[in-house]
Amino acid sequence: MLTDPAEAAGKHAAEWLNGLAERKISPNASVDELRAAFGHGLPEGSADPATVIAELAEDAGPGLLATASPRFFSFVVGGSLPVAVAADWLTTAWDQNAGLYAAAPAAMVAEEVAAGWLTDLLGLPASVSTGFVTGCQMANTTGLAAGRHAVLQRAGWDVETRGLAGSPGVRVVVGGERHATIDRALRLLGLGTQQVAVVPADGQGRMRADHLARVLDADDSTPTIVCAQLGNVNTGALDPIADIVELAHRRGAWVHVDGAFGLWAAASPSLAPLVAGAEGADSWATDAHKWLNVPYDSGLVFCADPGAHRAAMGVQASYLIHAEHQERDAMDFNPEFSRRARGFPVYAALRSLGRGGVADLVDRCCALARRFATALEAADGVEVCNDVVLNQVLVRFPGRDGDADRRTPAVVHAVQADGTCWLSGTVWQGRPAMRVSVSNWSTTPADVDRSVAAILRCAEAVG
Ligand SMILES: Cc1ncc(COP(=O)(O)O)c(C=O)c1O
Repeated sequence: MLTDPAEAAGKHAAEWLNGLAERKISPNASVDELRAAFGHGLPEGSADPATVIAELAEDAGPGLLATASPRFFSFVVGGSLPVAVAADWLTTAWDQNAGLYAAAPAAMVAEEVAAGWLTDLLGLPASVSTGFVTGCQMANTTGLAAGRHAVLQRAGWDVETRGLAGSPGVRVVVGGERHATIDRALRLLGLGTQQVAVVPADGQGRMRADHLARVLDADDSTPTIVCAQLGNVNTGALDPIADIVELAHRRGAWVHVDGAFGLWAAASPSLAPLVAGAEGADSWATDAHKWLNVPYDSGLVFCADPGAHRAAMGVQASYLIHAEHQERDAMDFNPEFSRRARGFPVYAALRSLGRGGVADLVDRCCALARRFATALEAADGVEVCNDVVLNQVLVRFPGRDGDADRRTPAVVHAVQADGTCWLSGTVWQGRPAMRVSVSNWSTTPADVDRSVAAILRCAEAVG
């Protein structure tokens, strides 16, 4: 029995990581079993830390979904690169409060360097400011907060001091297939659904640029933000970003890009043309915990107007030690005050992969998504209902009777129960579909083939 809790955790973590490729992906325990396992009364006294860790691993084990498995294709969940996991452990052990340079000098410089690498890889202007946030939800919120500041500032209104009441207002133009986090970001920023104008999307989920001009021209006086999307969560489709930037800028609007995973196309020479023109936007949100495959939680926001970014997020307090010589104080670019030094795993992942490794990771996932699509489409009673432009595949199962609406959710359920691979369902433009997202560094062609065989076996069994 190990007596050091860190050693005990290392042993359990290694067992988990080493077993990922072969373990059953779905959890084995019901909610009642988990509550019974965890639900001790609050202990009156202390317990041996190594024993607590051993028991935690035992209690949690049956309730863990193996999201880092090479055959986990649900949501858009990348696995974690071993180097990023290791850097994350160091981050925990170092326990830096990475809000200020004064409190976390190494963390701030690692973020500064990683930010430079990221802007280079993602093809963004070198002068952008960067925030390492918890995920794309907060990256969207931060980018939109900077946009809210900038468009109101141009209208002579300082939203940070005067608030929104009595302001000229902000109109937000979004696509019909935007991600749910955009709406929540707007709620958090005091921008209600009545201030949102929706541009219809096409059959792949792309904003219709031909409708955008009309929507923009319907109101040429209200300060405006346009939200574009690179990578629809269902289809992977990318908005026509060059046209959107051009149309929006011609009318003085701010362009925010939600590129949670799609912005990473810019890191692949073969896919970069899909996002050409994105560099002309004003703010960009993406994730490191998706396609860069670092552990949760790790999102990124970039802003072409560092002054607006800082105006929206900056914070001062007399007891803090603010940077005096342009050192990075992350809390000026983040919505958090105290914060984890989440730049370390990003830095380690980028340093380990290099430019070529990131491009290869993105290309490989897309090639594997096409492999999925080709194999599934070739089977009877299966249809792929999106253009597989990135790493997302949408599948329906019409079967022999053509009743895909009944069959598709049943196949998803059967695949989850089977456990060979794990994916989930969605409703795409009113019809149920199965989503396949390939985002994990460790997924191989053999994993895809094994998963396709399991999906087809389940579809056959559903009948
Ligand atoms: C397009 C898009 N935007 C935003 C998000 C939210 O990202 P996060 O879960 O990191 O907050 C997602 C998540 O899948 C997404 O696909």
